[in-house]
Amino acid sequence: MTLLLAIETSCDETSIAIVRNGTGSRPTEVLSNVVSSQIELHAEFGGVVPEVASRAHLEMLEPVLAQALAEANVTPDDIDAVAATHGPGLIGALLIGVSAAKALALAWGVPYVGVNHMEGHLFAPFLEAPDLEPPLVVLLVSGGHTMIVHLKAFGDYKILGSTIDDAAGEAFDKVARYLGLGYPGGPLVDKLARDGDRDAIRFPRGLMDEGLDFSFSGMKTAVINYVRKNRDAENADLCAGFQEAVVDVLVTKTMRAAEQVGANGVCLGGGVAANSRLRERFAEEAAKRNLTCLVPDRAFCTDNAAMIASAAHWRLQNDGPMPLDDGAIPNLKLV
Ligand code: KG4
Ligand code: ZN
Repeated sequence: MTLLLAIETSCDETSIAIVRNGTGSRPTEVLSNVVSSQIELHAEFGGVVPEVASRAHLEMLEPVLAQALAEANVTPDDIDAVAATHGPGLIGALLIGVSAAKALALAWGVPYVGVNHMEGHLFAPFLEAPDLEPPLVVLLVSGGHTMIVHLKAFGDYKILGSTIDDAAGEAFDKVARYLGLGYPGGPLVDKLARDGDRDAIRFPRGLMDEGLDFSFSGMKTAVINYVRKNRDAENADLCAGFQEAVVDVLVTKTMRAAEQVGANGVCLGGGVAANSRLRERFAEEAAKRNLTCLVPDRAFCTDNAAMIASAAHWRLQNDGPMPLDDGAIPNLKLV
């Protein structure tokens, strides 16, 4: 039994979680997963301001740590290892979490593990379903990444497809900004789409019939062009139609990938995995193909430290601790 404390500060969420075990072990138990969002601080700028993010992480780290320990009902003496996201992400933001984790590891006399943020998203499903068996196909969709990953075994990944332009979350955010909905756009588009007719406006599906890569930039431009020509179009219908187009390509290509590699099942990860229509369509299409499907709880889809603890647990078992001179790697790749 290992009790891990993990810190996630790669972008605009300060999160600390305490998890018993993690990927590759059972039982896995999330004792606490505190997330302090900076969304309101960045909203007035329409996007994440790196300097503002770093300062906010620094301010929030101590109260979030105190809350994570209190909610888990443990003391520092109970912690067996400390982990932090060491990339990819904003360098200043990453350094706050990495430095804090290394300082705690040193002070508490326990090992330190640096975790790849994308491996965290990849391992989030195992928090709820530790019995899930690779090979799996995981659709990772966030504000910065869109990829279909073949999880052949823990630690053995192949990227089967990725975006050639905007990430899916970025496309949601840009459409929302154009429609004047606010920031971050994904949840706002999702909410408005519920009142719209998803068949009222049919937007193009980028690269739908070609391979496993994605292209969202043209789909975003199609929305802009439509609004220019149809000033009276309802925002709810625009959101529903755009969301349907994005979800259609994401789901179609993930199922295509699962068939191609003969996966046991399919999983979703990343902030866009919180999208209600994506969750619904993903589960429906997987069921039609008799694929095991895991759509994680929304709290484990958007950035959180529990998924980092899950990945850290496996890394610790597999590779052992990392030296305390390990730094932050802003452009770290998954493979
Ligand atoms: O994984 P994440 O929390 O942070 C990154 O690592 O990027 O993902 C954030 C992205 C944003 O673009 C946000 O608009 C999108 O996830 N998002 C959503 C929803 N909730 C968050 N997109 C569509 N529908 C949602 N419900
Ligand atoms: Zn993320």
